[in-house]
Amino acid sequence: MNKLDSLEARNGVLAVIPAAGSGKRMGSNRPKQFLRLDGKPILAHTIQAFQDCTTVHAIVLVAPPDEVVFCREEVVEAFGLNKVIEIVPGGLRRQDSVRAGLEALNEVYQWVLIHDGVRPLIDGGFIDQLVSCSKLYRAVAAGLPAGETVKEVNDFNKVVKTHDRSRVWLVQTPQIFRYEDLLEAHRKASQEGWGDVTDDASLIERLGIEVTLIRGSEKNIKVTTPYDLAMAGFLLRYDETSPRAG
Ligand code: C5P
Repeated sequence: MNKLDSLEARNGVLAVIPAAGSGKRMGSNRPKQFLRLDGKPILAHTIQAFQDCTTVHAIVLVAPPDEVVFCREEVVEAFGLNKVIEIVPGGLRRQDSVRAGLEALNEVYQWVLIHDGVRPLIDGGFIDQLVSCSKLYRAVAAGLPAGETVKEVNDFNKVVKTHDRSRVWLVQTPQIFRYEDLLEAHRKASQEGWGDVTDDASLIERLGIEVTLIRGSEKNIKVTTPYDLAMAGFLLRYDETSPRAG
């Protein structure tokens, strides 16, 4: 029997938003996803983008274990984010949190979108584009071609390799997968101890499934430091259709 047979299958797209990090690099006493951007928690901006997307059917939010109530009352209910059907406590590593989100329901959707809670400037049109791409490709992630030269170093910061920049992309979220693929990848990763990864596409690659990258946006930054927070405040008002330099 297929191990997923016990789960009810639903058509459509579920978004899982991992937001269970502690945000130490921000140097604040609140996790960065709860800091305010334009008077509203960063996480509320992020969820709002998925709430407003007609291609997204439901949302599972993964919160720090001691912030589940705060997330429910001050983020989800306070901003009327009623597509959030479950709020679950996260784990120690990002991948543990994503897995908790994937395992939270008694059903599997056809597709699952994963998006970092700390990328509040994600654009709804881009989410729709990614969902359309998932009909063509089995696994799709947002990314940007590297604008700077990428060098690999050893433990002493000595360069051991310079990568061909024309082949290097910096990968973001959102990423979209077949739910069953991602669940299988996460379960195998933990059963077989695949080690730490920084995104979900890495686990899918390890399963031998091809991942396609599509061009995301420079605006879709991950808010990690006080500098990023200031930048996000600026970018919130920045119109990407304005003329570019150069
Ligand atoms: O900074 P990092 O890339 O680890 O965080 C990306 C996203 O993953 C953030 O939204 C963060 O809250 C989330 N995360 C999580 N559980 C962890 C670590 C990070 O949900 N244990």
